[in-house]
Amino acid sequence: MLRDTTHRDLRTELFGHKLESPLLIAPIGVQTIFHHDKEDGVAGVAAEIGVPYILSTASSSSIENVAKANGDGWVTSPLLNRAKSNGFTVLLVTLDTWTLAWRPADLDNAYLPFASGIGDQTGFSDPAFRRKFTEKHKKEVEDDVFLASREWANEVFSGAAHTWEQLELLKTEWDGPIVLKGIQHVDDARMAVEAGMDGIVVSNHGGRQLDGAVGSLEVLPEIVDAVGDQITVLFDSGIRTGVDIIKALCLGAKGVLIGRPFVYGLAIGGKEGAKDVVRGLLAAFDEFASVRMRLFTLDNGLIRHI
Ligand SMILES: Cc1cc2nc3c(=O)[nH]c(=O)nc-3n(C[C@H](O)[C@H](O)[C@H](O)COP(=O)(O)O)c2cc1C
Repeated sequence: MLRDTTHRDLRTELFGHKLESPLLIAPIGVQTIFHHDKEDGVAGVAAEIGVPYILSTASSSSIENVAKANGDGWVTSPLLNRAKSNGFTVLLVTLDTWTLAWRPADLDNAYLPFASGIGDQTGFSDPAFRRKFTEKHKKEVEDDVFLASREWANEVFSGAAHTWEQLELLKTEWDGPIVLKGIQHVDDARMAVEAGMDGIVVSNHGGRQLDGAVGSLEVLPEIVDAVGDQITVLFDSGIRTGVDIIKALCLGAKGVLIGRPFVYGLAIGGKEGAKDVVRGLLAAFDEFASVRMRLFTLDNGLIRHI
């Protein structure tokens, strides 16, 4: 109490980029199902308010359009060459979705947008995929969207598990920082360090991939204890309020991703709705910082940049 917190500084630095705050937009696939503003729209408003936008491979907008909308904003994407030449700077590799989880609700609703060309834009706009498709089927992607969807799904969700050794290939193909998303165990965090990764996202994919997965916040402190001084630890799954951001930072995360909250905003009010949600979270974070930050800093000493 009675500390001067009038001038607060929420800025931080991640992977060599100076950021206005430690908040990032999580990769969420198929944003066109929420609103026609989709990825381009959200990437645009994210740039307006200085929040990094992470583009999903399962995007309903092309890498090029998202990069254009995001301007000088900071974005990540998995399709390496196109991503690189469109100004994407950090490669985020999602480990926990090499195959889609068994999702009974989606099955009940026969919900698989990728099967009908929705969320396949990364592939459909990819020159290499298009060339391969035309050579094999003697027609264009647009001539048979269902077939093209199947072919692209085979590339993205091939059903083949990946291994730590394969990260070596990524390192030779990508000269920027690489971040592994979906780490939930100290041993895996240590492997990420050994593999020469720059960061990890402690995440259980919002509980969408594995029923009964341990809570990500629960495992965050032990992972930070084990590797926090060797690798940048980010966090997601369950950030809903400014206080949640503070908690994750106090437990050692250097930044947090938000997923569903911005999607709810997008669904209700398009890109402006998504922007309002993120701005609201930032305001709540700032407000809470003004009242409580000193206490947390004193108690914990982990939030050094605020
Ligand atoms: C509809 C939906 C689609 C998602 N798509 C992706 C994706 O394409 N790639 C990815 O790495 N994570 C994806 N995620 C996971 C999010 O990036 C994030 O890890 C998860 O939603 C937890 O954060 P939250 O609790 O703030 O939503 C998706 C999540 C949702 C809800």
